[in-house]
Amino acid sequence: MKANVLVVGGGGREDAIVWKLSRSDNTENLYCIPGNGGITRRALIPENFPSTNDSIIKFAKEKSMDFVVVGPEQPLAEGLADGLRALGISVLGPGSQGARLEGSKSFAKNFMKKYNVPTAEFEIFSDSTAALDYLKTKEKVVIKADGLCAGKGVYVCSSREEATAAVREIMQEKKFSEAGNKIIIEDMLRGEEASIIVLMSPDNYSVMLPSQDHKAVFEGDSGPNTGGMGAYAPTGAVNPEILKKVEKNIIGPVSDGLRRERIDYRGVLYIGLMICDGEPQVLEFNVRFGDPETEAMLPLLKTDFIELLSGVERDEKVILDWEKQVCVDVVLASGGYPGSYESGKKIKINREDMPEGVNIFHAGTQLKNGKLYTSGGRVLNVAARGNDIVEAVRKAYKAIESISFENMYFRKDIGHKEVKRYECGK
Ligand code: AMP
Ligand code: GLY
Repeated sequence: MKANVLVVGGGGREDAIVWKLSRSDNTENLYCIPGNGGITRRALIPENFPSTNDSIIKFAKEKSMDFVVVGPEQPLAEGLADGLRALGISVLGPGSQGARLEGSKSFAKNFMKKYNVPTAEFEIFSDSTAALDYLKTKEKVVIKADGLCAGKGVYVCSSREEATAAVREIMQEKKFSEAGNKIIIEDMLRGEEASIIVLMSPDNYSVMLPSQDHKAVFEGDSGPNTGGMGAYAPTGAVNPEILKKVEKNIIGPVSDGLRRERIDYRGVLYIGLMICDGEPQVLEFNVRFGDPETEAMLPLLKTDFIELLSGVERDEKVILDWEKQVCVDVVLASGGYPGSYESGKKIKINREDMPEGVNIFHAGTQLKNGKLYTSGGRVLNVAARGNDIVEAVRKAYKAIESISFENMYFRKDIGHKEVKRYECGK
């Protein structure tokens, strides 16, 4: 069966999903809302379209969509998947009940506690005085606003002063409005972070390639956190032994917990891990594909994406087949990001000098009169495949030499931990 598919979102993650769908013989019509300057190459983007859940649901019905793939978390938290499913449209993404695993950190932490999923010790507060009192008993903590804060609601505090300031900012100054009505104070964990992306359906799951992103803006993982400055897959940080623990101690109990809570979860579960002395602990759940992990992962996926979507919908175990390669994705950002930056810069891409095995996925780009301009903080993703991490890194940075825009900024050390692992293992 050929399928009509709508992808919701407009970042690098969605461009990678659209690219993968466009390579499937089973894709009939491919749409994206709101899309971006690169996604127009492969998907139809309705013009001047209001990206509200109601209008997306109406559009999906009118255009007889078979599948909708939802990229970002907000529409899921607001019930987009529920509305689509009520009309018989298949969705990769949980309903609003399941989306609480990302939309409410207190829900996620209580869920983990109830089902014995390893995670940092925590307390939940809805009163700032009690929270400030609790801080007197703790040294190093991480403070998290309960609700969705576009990735900005987490404070990793290295001193009591920082922790006190975080509580004040979230609860008293209301920096995130009602998303900060409750906070979680949890113990700081130390170790190496990694991302595990799982395709979940009620009785089955399939684990995708483990990956690692680079959240900090500067080299050596320093400076403020961003949406992600690059990623690579697979990562040796999650070796087969750790993966076994992730399945046994985390994915199994989560899947069981969802069933017990009567949450019919059909979609992606992203598990943010901290691997502490060989023991995987959950930092966070997301209810969607990671960005930029997806841009590093999908170029290695051989399995047809429509088959993947059908498998999750039918609650079957999706057999995932991967290239035996490594993919490194480097984000090209507007100088100044994650602080203020300028947009509207002309982008030049010289395709003739591009090495083979490189994908350029668009994030903050806009097409105007056939010319490409920057329109966001993260602008492009350069995803390069190689036979090992060193080759993939070399190709990604070689490809970047063919791309330019004013004030272009990128990290020069994406994949550095894996390169070290590779060199130690030689
Ligand atoms: P989250 O959105 O909960 O994943 O938090 C964002 C980032 O904060 C993570 O990627 C970690 O780098 C850091 N973080 C969150 N929780 C902890 C923790 N308990 N210990 C150490 N770092 C953490
Ligand atoms: N790369 C982290 C995230 O997608 O939330």
